[in-house]
Amino acid sequence: MSMDNREKEPKKRLYLQSELTDPFRTEWAGQPVCVYESVDSTNTECTRLANAGAKHGTVVLAKSQTAGRGRRGRSWDSPLGENLYFSLLLKPDVMPDKAPMLTLIMALAAAEGIENLTGLRPMIKWPNDLVMEGKKICGILTEMHMAGHKIDHVVIGVGINVRKRTFPEELQEKAESLENVCGAAAGEISVQALLEAVLQAFEKRYAVFEQTGDLSFLQRVYNDCLVNWDREVTVLEGQNSYRGIARGINAGGELLVELADGTVKSVYAGEVSVRGIYGYV
Ligand code: BTN
Repeated sequence: MSMDNREKEPKKRLYLQSELTDPFRTEWAGQPVCVYESVDSTNTECTRLANAGAKHGTVVLAKSQTAGRGRRGRSWDSPLGENLYFSLLLKPDVMPDKAPMLTLIMALAAAEGIENLTGLRPMIKWPNDLVMEGKKICGILTEMHMAGHKIDHVVIGVGINVRKRTFPEELQEKAESLENVCGAAAGEISVQALLEAVLQAFEKRYAVFEQTGDLSFLQRVYNDCLVNWDREVTVLEGQNSYRGIARGINAGGELLVELADGTVKSVYAGEVSVRGIYGYV
């Protein structure tokens, strides 16, 4: 490589090949995985790579984030070496209103990947939080980028709390880590193996979604994992909020919420938040 080319490479970018020594056993998701010591946000970096021509399936993995982002404008605490932070770049051939379905596919894939690796299956708090022992272990942030009226690319960012740790007081009631739940017997969970397991599960589900264009194929299994199932929830939509009983998702991935008068509302997984009425779930 000439010196000229080297100087054009982003300085922050660091491929830690030693961390991904084994072949990454996926077909396209995570081909390639770009590994960084530290990045502002893997979602932001993934979009930068997409704008520079990165292909469908590219993954950005970071050991820490300096500006990790959560849903609804929140930040995502991203200390070094504690967790899995990654973003997957997709160039799906679907209408923009279907993009939220990708979030649900990733939530299920993350649950399945975790189960394949640890033997324990997390529950899903619609649309995209994973929950173990009543606390959050994973969050997902999906961002869609348009080219005119069509999707240019979608970035799905996933943060999974992995390492054994004590959470700050304000998070102790809400957050949990995989190693805390799995206990010492499980040993240290490999971040690479976890990423691989999640992406393998995602590939399988995404292949069916590409054929069907909806979520009818996973509705039952998703609903089986739904922590909100038959529970009273509060739906927050902008400034509005209402209560009802969650009755599972439909084929479009919308949460069906039965109101007090018996009518059923379909809640679209955009910028809404669903809370249990007694706490996080
Ligand atoms: C949420 O539950 O609010 C979503 C959290 C998403 C966090 C992940 S960590 C990797 C990726 N990069 C980000 O900046 N956010 C997502």
